[in-house]
Amino acid sequence: MADETPFLRLTGISKRFGGVKALDGIDWDVKRGEIHCLVGENGCGKSTLIKAVVGVHAPSSGTIEIDGADVPVLDPARAKALGIQVIFQDLSLFPNLSVAENIAIENHLEHALKPVRKERLRGVARDVLRRLNFDLDLSTIVSDLSVAERQIVAIARGLAAQARLIFMDEPTASLTRAEVNRLLAIVSRLKADGIAVVFVSHRLDEVVEIAERVTVMRDGRKVGTWPVAEVDQKRIAHLMTGLDIDHSIVARDMGDAPELLHVEKLSRRGEFADIDFTLHQGEVLGIIGLLGSGRTELALTLFGMHRADAGAITLDGKPLRLSSNRDAVEAGIAYVSEDRLGLGVILPQSIGDNIILAVMKQLAGRFGLIATKSRQKLADDWVKRLSIKVAGTDRPVQTLSGGNQQRVVLAKWLATRPKVLILDSPTVGVDIKNKQGIYEVVAELARQGVGVILISDEVSEVFATCDRVLHMRSGRIIGAEVPGQVSEHEMEERIYA
Ligand SMILES: Nc1ncnc2c1ncn2[C@@H]1O[C@H](COP(=O)(O)OP(=O)(O)OP(=O)(O)O)[C@@H](O)[C@H]1O
Ligand SMILES: [Mg+2]
Repeated sequence: MADETPFLRLTGISKRFGGVKALDGIDWDVKRGEIHCLVGENGCGKSTLIKAVVGVHAPSSGTIEIDGADVPVLDPARAKALGIQVIFQDLSLFPNLSVAENIAIENHLEHALKPVRKERLRGVARDVLRRLNFDLDLSTIVSDLSVAERQIVAIARGLAAQARLIFMDEPTASLTRAEVNRLLAIVSRLKADGIAVVFVSHRLDEVVEIAERVTVMRDGRKVGTWPVAEVDQKRIAHLMTGLDIDHSIVARDMGDAPELLHVEKLSRRGEFADIDFTLHQGEVLGIIGLLGSGRTELALTLFGMHRADAGAITLDGKPLRLSSNRDAVEAGIAYVSEDRLGLGVILPQSIGDNIILAVMKQLAGRFGLIATKSRQKLADDWVKRLSIKVAGTDRPVQTLSGGNQQRVVLAKWLATRPKVLILDSPTVGVDIKNKQGIYEVVAELARQGVGVILISDEVSEVFATCDRVLHMRSGRIIGAEVPGQVSEHEMEERIYA
């Protein structure tokens, strides 16, 4: 029956990058109007699969059918013409153009010879935003929007270009829970319009919540595709990793350990006020709160990137004055930013150079030269400890998968041997097995006496790692909890209340 023909069918798709077989004989299909989730560990080939379909990286072999007909190797423009849109992690929007211009850009380009009528652009943009039931000022310049809003613009652009299948590569990675819910509502609307959505996610809770089918990949191969009703999160994690991962509570009472960092009445106008807490040696202290709760602003202040208006910080019993992040690094504070690609790494530079970036000074010899050998050793060490999947530390960071890039950022800061390590959403975009690996590194550092502040909006994450959790809302600390003394569910309710 014609109706049963999937919209997209792949047969035997393979892709090599030099010696790396990123995709190995993938057979796969996407039905019309289905919500399909693609999961697997970092570096297993999810992004490459998407890029192979739309011809960003032409496959080395295999065939692609659309609507039951063979198509020759696609390029991104042809893929779009056939109704396939991709929303990459960077969204590929034009930051200095307006919402309306970004949404209607494809129509705009097609009629490049005709003068573009502003009203027509706005009309197209207004229509698709209405279809998405989303209110956005059409004249706003895209660089003034939040990440979540930009994502909606990217989806709207796909709709305006008559998409029939939209790939979203980790669309929820930088969104808060409330924004994720809004995006999921929009995905359901696309489905109602007969548009298929394939999305990549490492948050298995949202996968089982929204997807109809889930495809699991491992080491460049497809493990299988299942209706979501037939698998649960635990089973998916097992299919991805071959392991049973269990989240046990680790909280210890660290109240008697020596005080490491003490923060008193710390305030910064418009961001946070009267923040009081003590971090002990070897303690893992969680800070949980939603976007806008002031958690990232607090972290940036503790790292010397922002100045506090009032209050005091003491480290090892001595008052700490931070006028820049260099002061913080010198005092022994390290900060792993939530914005992994913005502040974290220099993409075209090698993995090794990125890892040693923050320790240059410590490693530099008499003439400011860094011995190649010690550099190499340091980089290799961290690559091994964090199980970063690399062909060699001399390769550029941009050849790594997203989750592995994230771990390079972590390695860079761990190499500074900090006393206080501030981690802001450190496992966003990291697969479940490697999340566990990062939690183990955190636990190990804590055992060595490092004080860790872990900022997160995933309750399961603070539950699996923290001794104590501070709860922030509207710039204030409104409570402190110990995982285990409250249940995960109770904590979740308090946070989203
Ligand atoms: N441009 C490239 N050059 C060389 N190797 C690459 C390139 N892009 C990807 N690879 C390699 O292909 C493999 C698959 O990477 P891919 O980005 O598809 O992983 P992924 O499943 O999307 O992972 P993540 O969850 O971390 O984003 C990895 O080993 C990666 O290093
Ligand atoms: Mg990827």
